[in-house]
Amino acid sequence: MNPNQPADVAAVDRAIRERCTRKVLAGAGEGEQRDLFLRGLRESLELAGMAPFHYPRSDAIPEPWRFHVFTGAALRHTHQQLADADLLYGKLPRIFEHAGAVVLVTWLPETDASPKTEARNWEHAAATAAATQNLLLATEARGIGSYWCSAPILAEAPALKIWGAGLGEVALGEIFLGWPLSAADEAEMGWSGKMRKRRTAPDSGWCRWADLN
Ligand SMILES: Cc1cc2nc3c(=O)[nH]c(=O)nc-3n(C[C@H](O)[C@H](O)[C@H](O)COP(=O)(O)O)c2cc1C
Repeated sequence: MNPNQPADVAAVDRAIRERCTRKVLAGAGEGEQRDLFLRGLRESLELAGMAPFHYPRSDAIPEPWRFHVFTGAALRHTHQQLADADLLYGKLPRIFEHAGAVVLVTWLPETDASPKTEARNWEHAAATAAATQNLLLATEARGIGSYWCSAPILAEAPALKIWGAGLGEVALGEIFLGWPLSAADEAEMGWSGKMRKRRTAPDSGWCRWADLN
């Protein structure tokens, strides 16, 4: 990033600041809108993969994360299967209904009995969270709304089977994506994240500068 290009800096800042949880979305749209949505999603997934990761896994794919993407008929089918298995409660049916895509994000823990395994696994999970945030920011920059959900019931074995997650994968969360509702609909039927307004400034105490002066 070149600091002499303030427009680039402003664009990145805007994506970070304006990203917010939107639980109820307006689907993927139709026709050109849907094409744009799917293109944006593909580009954003590629950018998710630009996240840092510390340790390669030993199999053919070095990244610790896995992204399972559901759109269109596959999303409707999976939604139905989760509903039939009685795994959707509370707001989840409504959230599924309005999503244009759902991405199940998982990571692959290592299982060898080495003293280093726990530390490596912690870093695999942290890297997967970084890739997930990349996805949220890249979709935000393309005007696509998102919600990072971690409902435990969608991460347990019966749901993982329906999602089609691979052996040994651990769910980090489900990312619901779609075009945002209009401002009027958002005010009437939107759900935001409960921590949204609870952010504090760095000098409230969570950021300490080790200042020697
Ligand atoms: C790891 C992780 C898991 C989350 N799981 C849930 C969840 O299960 N349900 C929920 O309502 N929000 C969940 N969220 C979203 C947060 O509630 C939301 O990001 C927070 O309220 C801040 O709002 P904002 O995203 O609009 O800034 C999760 C966020 C993270 C990072």
